[in-house]
Amino acid sequence: MKNIYSNILKIDDKNISKAIKNLKKNATIGIPTETVYGLAGNAYSEVAVKKIYQLKKRPLKNPLIIHYHNIKDMKKDADINTNFIKLYLNFCPGPLTFVLNKKKNSKVNNLATSNLKTIAVRFPRHRVIRKVLRQLKFPLAIPSANISGGISPVSAFDVEKEFGKKIKLILNGGTSRIGIESTVIDLTKKIKILRPGAVNLRKIEEIINSKVFYSKNNKKISSPGLLRKHYSPGIPMKLNKKVSEKNSAFIIFGKNYKKTKHTFNLSKNSNLKEAAKNLYKYFRKIKEKGYKKINVVKIPNKDIGIAINDRLKRASY
Ligand code: TXA
Ligand code: MG
Repeated sequence: MKNIYSNILKIDDKNISKAIKNLKKNATIGIPTETVYGLAGNAYSEVAVKKIYQLKKRPLKNPLIIHYHNIKDMKKDADINTNFIKLYLNFCPGPLTFVLNKKKNSKVNNLATSNLKTIAVRFPRHRVIRKVLRQLKFPLAIPSANISGGISPVSAFDVEKEFGKKIKLILNGGTSRIGIESTVIDLTKKIKILRPGAVNLRKIEEIINSKVFYSKNNKKISSPGLLRKHYSPGIPMKLNKKVSEKNSAFIIFGKNYKKTKHTFNLSKNSNLKEAAKNLYKYFRKIKEKGYKKINVVKIPNKDIGIAINDRLKRASY
């Protein structure tokens, strides 16, 4: 239901049409994906792409991920290869983003790809965004719907807090199922994971039957967006803590910590998927409650825990 204070729209045919109409007019909208909520605009339009950078206050050198409904559309903009096909067949639509060589005659706006020769592409799984993409004749440039450097939104209400009335509308597709951004894999040279996510390295190695590495050079612009400080609640954060001082927020995991009014348990049952889903939700809650400091316990560094630790490290930098 739309109330007069909000531009959050429930999902029905009328509102999906409204979203599509706005995208065709090169407006930007908030849209759900299974990872986090995004700020979407026509990837072929300089007007739309510029709006995205401006709204997010994002440095122009940090390229956007281009979102497609299917391979057929995507092939017009990027060169595919065998590894891409294998991974696509296994994980897509889903939380995996591919860096590929951009086609010379691609219509994707050059600002969206920061004038690079490469392009990041993704096929999101959430039914709402798939419904929207299916009805468009252009792909969508969609970064996470937060001011650059801040916490990614995992609900329509989070997006509203970030941009309010500055965007036309936000489609309310519920809480993001995964809660952490897609895995970004570079397939253009030596295969590298640029950003860990829900699809992990082991699974990828199995599918392509070759060794895959994590990109180490976060300082350089191998993935321009992977600037070290990121995903930040803007409060000092200390990692691998066993105890927390009195008035700090304490992010815990599992059953080994005493519950107090300052504890935020990512998963009582030590379930890493549940922890990923709660991570940004708690960051936001802790920030809103006005805490001055956050302590975080050690999180197991396996499966999606690797992505959680990557975000914690950047948030604490
Ligand atoms: O899960 C997600 O991927 C979400 C949802 C909304 O789809 N999107 C997202 O977008 O996280 P964003 O803009 O917050 O992060 C995109 C990341 C950045 O780290 C950026 O540097 C990297 O992808 N990237 C984009 N194009 C690239 C390229 N050509 N080469 C290397 N990295 C690239
Ligand atoms: Mg982001």
